Amino acid sequence: MLDLRKRSVREAMSVRVDINGAVAETIGSAGVAAAEVEALQPQLIAVADDLRAQRQAGQAAFYELPYERESLAATKALAETLREESETLVVLGIGGSALGTKTLIESVADGSRAVRVADNIDPWSFGALLDGLDLQRTTFNVISKSGETAETMSQFLIVRELLLRQLGGVDYVSKVILTTDAGKGALRQVVHDEGFRSLVIPAAVGGRFSVLTPVGLLPAAFAGIRLDDLLAGAAWMDERCQEPEIWKNPGHLLGTLLYLADTKHRQNIATLMPYSDRLHWFAAWFAQLWAESLGKAQHLDGTAANVGQTPLTAVGATDQHSLLQLFAEGPKDKITIMLRVEDHGRELPVASAYKDIEPLAYLGGTGLGKLLNMEQRGTEVALVKQGRPVITLSVPQINAFTIGQLFYLFEVATVFAGGLYRIDPFNQPGVEESKRLTYGQVGRAGFDAKSEEVRAYLANKKDHLIV
Ligand code: PA5
Repeated sequence: MLDLRKRSVREAMSVRVDINGAVAETIGSAGVAAAEVEALQPQLIAVADDLRAQRQAGQAAFYELPYERESLAATKALAETLREESETLVVLGIGGSALGTKTLIESVADGSRAVRVADNIDPWSFGALLDGLDLQRTTFNVISKSGETAETMSQFLIVRELLLRQLGGVDYVSKVILTTDAGKGALRQVVHDEGFRSLVIPAAVGGRFSVLTPVGLLPAAFAGIRLDDLLAGAAWMDERCQEPEIWKNPGHLLGTLLYLADTKHRQNIATLMPYSDRLHWFAAWFAQLWAESLGKAQHLDGTAANVGQTPLTAVGATDQHSLLQLFAEGPKDKITIMLRVEDHGRELPVASAYKDIEPLAYLGGTGLGKLLNMEQRGTEVALVKQGRPVITLSVPQINAFTIGQLFYLFEVATVFAGGLYRIDPFNQPGVEESKRLTYGQVGRAGFDAKSEEVRAYLANKKDHLIV
């Protein structure tokens, strides 16, 4: 176990952001020049000041999550009880209510309990998940900040009916935990009406910034993840991101480089490429955070913006045989962020054989982890040689402490980039209309006009444009 009280241990376990492969000094004009960063200094200072003020005013509440002790105690206690009661926790949630949990379970769960995350309403996969459950040994955690997201609510209604039928009206209540806003929304009302156990998502923390609230923490604790280490990792990154000097502040530097890559170097696609299967969902979590926070139609002052850098996910080494050709020789519109795991926590030695057949012989004696890291380095060099920028994040090991750092690092980078783009990173007005159009089609009261819009759209389709 890591003794994280020691600064030397925290230093040794630090995630490092290496920007060598993304600056002009190394890769020429495709890279961000030091002078570009210097020219941005007034904005960098203004954004840092503004975010500090927002933090103090409680408007950027995610900053304080590593230090929330009260709800942490309640979350840990409930998780302990659930571990006694159940073998499996099924999370019903979508977007920010699901992706952080998926990351945590994939990367650092200890295997003592199963957590399944149902973040889609595909009847095939959700039906199959339900078919395979032992309901006596399963708890459902319904997670929704708004308490009314159609996907999650419909899953909840299906599960509720199933439990009622199989366990009866008394026992079924003990099988569902609701995680939602403290006062608002339909789910909170259901808690009041039926007495479900529940946890609170702080009002000022939006879905994609909520992994370090009970949204991610309850499933994580159920899965045997050490919450103290996770939050210590976030707090450690917070400390590092307080540094006023831009070149020494990992979060601000990452946000600034990606912002400049997009706005000054036309690299409007940012690929997150972990060289580890255990970080595959982390890339998806990042994609949501980056896309939903920064893709905005308006600046803060109401003027037109239509900004945002498109996130793309890839996994090394797998996608070297899929996407890399495009990254290396296609349009020069991308910057790649590689996650390199120094110690994979396990090594599989490659056996030596076929001494006289070189394509097999040379591999003998290496390990798969070593090979994976050499492939990461080889790909980094190959891209940089082509003038394709690469930022490399070095992760000493995958553990709760480093995962906490990664979550916090990217959250800080995102809000910092949001400040530079002069947009609100915490809202998502662009996803609301599709929700309203869905409500209209299903027949929700008050959305008749939306149903009519869909009908008119379909009526307008031309047969000759359908083959
Ligand atoms: O980041 C966000 O705010 C969204 O992705 C939400 O998490 C997602 O839409 C689910 O919303 P809710 O938690 O209200 O069900």
